[in-house]
This record gives sequence, C-alpha cells and structure tokens, in this order.
Amino acid sequence: MEALITLLPGDGIGPEVTSSAHRALKTVADVYGHDFRFEVRLIGGAAIDETQNPLPPDTVASCMESAAVFLGAVGGPKWSDPHAMVRPEQGLLELRAELGVYANIRPVKVMDELIGASPLRAEYIEGVDLIVVRELTGGIYFGKKTRDESLASDLCVYHTHEIERIVRVAARLAEGRRNKLCSVDKANVLETSRLWRDVTNQTLAREFPELDTETLLVDAAAMHLLSRPRDFDVIVTENMFGDILTDEASMLAGSMGMLPSASLGDSTRGLYEPIHGSAPDIAGLDVANPCAAIASAALLLRHSLGLAEEADAVEAAIAAAIGAGVRTADIARDGETPVSTTEMTDRILSALG
Ligand code: IPM
Ligand code: MG
Repeated sequence: MEALITLLPGDGIGPEVTSSAHRALKTVADVYGHDFRFEVRLIGGAAIDETQNPLPPDTVASCMESAAVFLGAVGGPKWSDPHAMVRPEQGLLELRAELGVYANIRPVKVMDELIGASPLRAEYIEGVDLIVVRELTGGIYFGKKTRDESLASDLCVYHTHEIERIVRVAARLAEGRRNKLCSVDKANVLETSRLWRDVTNQTLAREFPELDTETLLVDAAAMHLLSRPRDFDVIVTENMFGDILTDEASMLAGSMGMLPSASLGDSTRGLYEPIHGSAPDIAGLDVANPCAAIASAALLLRHSLGLAEEADAVEAAIAAAIGAGVRTADIARDGETPVSTTEMTDRILSALG
C-alpha cells in the first residue's frame, strides 16, 4: 500500500527515537512491499528556535495530508522559563486539537523478561496487561487560562459529547479484551467529574450493559494501580488524570521507554508517540530506549494503515530482542551490559526480516 507519514522528531531524545521508528517503518515497507513516503517537519522547541512558533503552519498542513503522524517528544529546559511567551508543549496540544485525536490509547503490558526491571515486586506485576484510555483534547489542558501578578487560573471544562465519545472508545476496547472497564474521576470534589460520572454511567448502562464496570476516585486509583494492577483491563479517564496515571503505570512495565501510545479521533488518521518525554539529560548520547517509539510505529501500522500482520511482526521483533537479552540502560539490571539506541534498533530490525 501507499501512505504518506509525517515525522515530527521534536526535542531532546525525540530525533533519536524517531529515527528508530522511521527505520522500523522503512524495514516493514521493504519486507512487505509497501510504499511509505515520509515528510519530516518541525514541532516544539526545535520549531520555536527556527520559526518562533511551536507548531508552524506547514507542519499542520503536512500532518493533515498524511495517513498518520509520528512524534518523538517535545520540551526541554531551554524553553521552560515560566515567563516564556511560547512553549514547546503548546505545539503538541494544538496538534492534538487540530487532528481531533481525542482518544489517547496507552497500553501497559508487563513483559515477563522485564519483571526484574520494575522497581515493584514481581508478585504484584506479573501478568499485568491494561490499557489506559485518556481523553486528550478537553479538560484543564484546553480551558481558558489567566495569569496576572498575583493570580492564575486554569479552567477545566467537559461537554457531555466529549465524555460519551471517549467512554465508547474505551468500552469497545474492553469488549474485545477481558470485558472490564474502570472509570476514574474526582467526583467528590470536581463538578466536571460529577458530569463525567453521570454521563459515563448512563452511556455504559444504555449502550454496554454487558460490561463489568467499576468507578474509582483518582487518588484511590493511583494506589490501586500499584496494589492490584493485574485487576485492571481498560481504564478510562480525563486528560490530566490520564497524564499522571500513565506515568505511574509505566513503572509497572519497567520503564517509560517501553510504552507506546496512539491518539485517535473519528477518522483513521492518528498521532503516534512514545509516552516518554524528551529526556534532555540523555539527549544526543545514543542511549535512549527506542522500544516505545518502535512499538508506537506498530500501533501506527495497525490503527492508521490497517496493517495488522505488519504491526504484529514489529511487536514480535521487539519481544524477540528483549527475549534475547538486549537491553538499553533504562531496563538493564546489574551485570547486564546496556546497548545503544542504535544497537537496540538494529537488533529489533534484524528480527523483522
Ligand atoms: C504526555 C506529555 C504531554 C502531556 C506534555 C509533553 C504536554 O506529558 O503526552 O503525556 O501532558 O500530554
Ligand atoms: Mg505525560
């Protein structure tokens, strides 16, 4: 098949892991006879440096024309002055809104070989296989913001239709898995969470009566994710809670460097990014873990290009490299010699064919 894919390397380790994802996609194209074309565009701090704009118009144009968009990471200390007029993260938020990708799917699967890489005890995390569905284009991230000398505010807004559509995405996913859905809110304090809970319960009762459902307050959910992570199948939650809980959940899998994400809307065009950030402390050193980026490329193949077999093959190649004991520094244990980003990528690609 033919497909145009926009690559947005961004900042920090973003360019390094994007290069790994790009190589994986090119290998898939060679092995399976596809014709993928790639456009590389600026976003985030790199775009601010060149154009003063974290999301230049030609970046948006290329993304809109593409079948899928891959993003490395944005942000870094160079652009994080609290008084800065423009910030790298704005570029990413605007892009999510432009693409209408309201559903951020973050799978957390603990690989047996990496159980020892997690700071958590094996008996808690063995067999963990959950997906967090994070609402991505609403809530406090997108509400009106104000700031003067002595006061600042961020408005958190949710509309009924935004809650309904994300709950449907999560419920359908759960139907295809273990049929369990947990909705996370803060309904004891926040009005938006009370609406969230009402609309979620109504939507589930009306459209998904067979689903095994549960509701948790976000503070309790943070605890249950550590005390009984295996119990979770699909978790659905609002934008900021999802941001926080997925960083926490990543430690179940051993490292942020293992976790991919897919951001989807009503069309097949999606935005794919590793959940880790730009990690400026290790940028340019060729030590970052490319697994999350390559696994995000697999999600791109599956969800935007409809290439399930190719996606499975990429995921199997990651598992094969990990199974063979290849480790980047973030997942290496005492006595294991870590490999570089490039070598980890080579080993994964060699398992691809
Ligand atoms: C994420 C990141 C972003 C977010 C930042 C970079 C704006 O933390 O994708 O989880 O908060 O959504
Ligand atoms: Mg985050």
